[in-house]
This record gives sequence, structure tokens and C-alpha cells, in this order.
Amino acid sequence: MENIIHQARRDDSRAVWKIRNHPANRCWFNTTEAISFGSHDGWFENKYFKNNENKCFVLEQSGAVAGYCRFDLNEDDGYIISIALDPGYQGRGLGNELLSGALRLIGAGKSILAEVKRENSASLRLFEKNNFIKYKEDKENIYLKYKC
Ligand SMILES: CC(C)(COP(=O)(O)OP(=O)(O)OC[C@H]1O[C@@H](n2cnc3c(N)ncnc32)[C@H](O)[C@@H]1OP(=O)(O)O)[C@@H](O)C(=O)NCCC(=O)NCCS
Repeated sequence: MENIIHQARRDDSRAVWKIRNHPANRCWFNTTEAISFGSHDGWFENKYFKNNENKCFVLEQSGAVAGYCRFDLNEDDGYIISIALDPGYQGRGLGNELLSGALRLIGAGKSILAEVKRENSASLRLFEKNNFIKYKEDKENIYLKYKC
């Protein structure tokens, strides 16, 4: 099956929203509430199409968006990363393919931080496998930094 990783297009908004909003995924994010498509769509446009410093990549399998990987600039001029796959595509190595591919596409230059809930073993393993190093932790989260 052919997998393609590319920068998100404007019309990938709905697919990204569905993945972000899936109840099985939401529990792992900072904001766990469902988001309406209207509010997501405006945010998506502002974030990735009016500001070209933020980047969102998607992995397509046979033409369907299976997951996204976002790099959002933070106030320290580094990126905060967020990655998620549609639950139907999880646990088959695609998270690794998407993360490693997106890191190659974004290139070196800025620091990349990941904030992961302590119980999220798949995500922790995924980041560690891709050269993210733990640099702090608190009661809820583990914080990792990408080592280029
Ligand atoms: C986190 C996520 C992107 C990982 O993608 P994935 O395709 O499911 O993961 P992969 O199949 O590429 O596996 C990555 C590693 O995690 C391990 N892993 C996968 N699922 C796991 C699980 N449920 N528990 C423990 N380890 C797991 C894999 O074995 C692999 O490690 P290995 O190569 O040493 O065997 C995906 O599961 C997801 O979208 N989760 C919900 C949203 C989320 O948690 N996002 C991250 C927020 S910080």
C-alpha cells in the first residue's frame, strides 16, 4: 500500500478535524473537549495557511488521510509537536513512518518539544525511537526534546 507524506492542503481540514476529535484520541490531548468543525476550520486556516512558519503534514494511505503531524511555533521560537492517527490506522508502524518523514521534511533549525501524558506508552515510545530525549516530567506529563 502506498503511503505519502505531504504538507497539509486547505481541503485536508475536515480529515484532520475528524482525527483530532475522535474520542479515542482526544483523551491524550491537553484540550479533551470536542471542537466544532467551524471553529477548527477557521483555526486551521489561520494556523497553517496565513502563517507559513507553522507546518502541518499528513500521511495519506491509498488517498485517505490516516494521520497528521503538526509543528506549531511557540513563544521561544521553537516548535511544539502534535501527532495523531485515525484509530483504524494505529499500531501498525504508521505513526513512526509519519513522524520520521515529517522530521525529515521540516529539517533542522528549530528546537522541537513534545508533551506526552505519562500513560501514553505508544506516544512515548514513538518519540524516543525518533531521537526525542526526556528533559523533564511532572505529575501528568513527560516532556521531550528532539535531538537533531
Ligand atoms: C501515538 C501514535 C501517533 C503512535 O502511532 P502508531 O502508528 O499507533 O504507533 P507505531 O505503530 O508507529 O508504534 C510506535 C512504537 O510504539 C509502540 N506501541 C504502539 N502501540 C502501543 C501501545 N498501545 N502500547 C505500548 N506501545 C505501543 C510500538 O510497538 C512501537 O515501538 P517499537 O517500534 O519499539 O515496537 C498513535 O497511536 C495515536 O494517534 N495515538 C492517539 C493520539 C496520541 O496519543 N497522540 C500523541 C499525543 S502526545
